Amino acid sequence: MTNNSALAIILAAGKGTRMKSERPKVLHRLAGATLLAHALRAAKGAGLDRLAVVLSPGMDEVGAAASALDPALEIFVQAEQLGTADAVKAARRAFEEFPGQVLILYGDTPLLRAETIGRVRAELEAGADLVVIGFETENPTGYGRLLLDDRGGLIGIREEKDASEEERALTLCNSGIMGFRSGKTLLNLLGRIGNDNAKKEFYLTDAVALARADRLEARIVQSSAAEVLGVNSRGELAQAEAVMQQRLRDAVMADGATLVAPETVFLSHDTRIGRDVVIEPHVVIGERVVIEDGATIKSFCYMQDSRIGQGATVGPFARLRPGADLAKDAHVGNFVEIKQSEIGEGAKVNHLTYIGDTTVGPRANIGAGTVTCNYDGFAKHRTEIGAGAFVGSNTSLVAPVKIGEGAYIGSGSVISKDVAPDALALSRSPQEERPGWAAKMRERRSRKPKSSGNKGT
Ligand code: UD1
Ligand code: CA
Repeated sequence: MTNNSALAIILAAGKGTRMKSERPKVLHRLAGATLLAHALRAAKGAGLDRLAVVLSPGMDEVGAAASALDPALEIFVQAEQLGTADAVKAARRAFEEFPGQVLILYGDTPLLRAETIGRVRAELEAGADLVVIGFETENPTGYGRLLLDDRGGLIGIREEKDASEEERALTLCNSGIMGFRSGKTLLNLLGRIGNDNAKKEFYLTDAVALARADRLEARIVQSSAAEVLGVNSRGELAQAEAVMQQRLRDAVMADGATLVAPETVFLSHDTRIGRDVVIEPHVVIGERVVIEDGATIKSFCYMQDSRIGQGATVGPFARLRPGADLAKDAHVGNFVEIKQSEIGEGAKVNHLTYIGDTTVGPRANIGAGTVTCNYDGFAKHRTEIGAGAFVGSNTSLVAPVKIGEGAYIGSGSVISKDVAPDALALSRSPQEERPGWAAKMRERRSRKPKSSGNKGT
């Protein structure tokens, strides 16, 4: 790949009406990241180091999101949506004097891989002036068709609405993604594109025929139809999600994780999973999750923004909320929720428990039904549980509170004061016992006549 600087212009001025959404189309999400973020990731992955995005007026939310993803990204506004060539023209300041390659990408094509953009760049490097990504499909309706000469050379692109019967029968289509040798090449061609066509739009696709007329060389890089799928509706968003999930699963399996039923495990664009991790069926992993080597995630877990340390075990039926940080060999069992808490090495939180805003020391054991009462209706408070402490079942820990190392909490306690290391604390009411009481009670009841409404018991 070339060392020279290269520019990506990402077109995203389209309104995305068919999404039927208040949210701009390119801010809809796939595997946790916006469509726009996926386009930027692919561009950067292919070494496109200068990024520009074209929006329509009023898309400030998209502009803000784009800047948040990359502060150096340049934002251009296309005043009116007069077609793809006009959209590119809106970014003229970015490319007119740009000496390197210029790639035109779409903001709504999130499955395009960096490798494929890399193939376009390689063709430009090898001497092409213009490269188009094309794909074969059985159902070409709506796409521009690639027109070839008898030697298979690309001579033009015909939009569906302008195509003859014969041209409509062609199945090699335009993805819309194009590369130009330099900003100057693009500028020269763009200046001559008119709007004398069925839609009265300025078609970027006309650049191909103009290039041919100039004796420039136009080439095709072919990709699969799936890779250049444009998202225009919720249905297509779901289709793209399915493809993305499959890719993410394949990648973690290739890196040495076992997914028992991959089609039931949902990952995020940034999920990091180590070797010999086992993920059982039906697990949902949100953004910013790291699962280290040898950890096991049992069925029906939901997690986000968490770290699961080496060899740790989670689930079945566990929920890790943001800030859950499980050290090596920690155990988090069924019906346990952890939020903003560190669970120390080898510590166990196995059953029916809520741990929030807490530090659990190494090897501590948290009994079934323990609840950290971290919220008083106004503010959150922390709980600290020392190394090796034992918290009996059904304990409420009223934060802020500290349980010293090695301390022991009797079951059923409500702990609202700090407990010293190695002490026993318990707060339950003393047990009473009345010998023979139950037998006497049964005696008494059996002598009374049975009430009519209580037959048979
Ligand atoms: C375009 C191509 C067509 C190709 C198809 C692939 C042209 C003339 N046609 O058609 O050959 O098969 O994509 O999906 O290029 N956009 C703007 N401003 C505009 C118009 C479009 O920013 O004024 C952006 C859209 O947001 C979108 C992209 O450009 O990201 C494509 O626009 P769209 O209207 O979907 O193009 P098609 O007519 O589908
Ligand atoms: Ca389209």
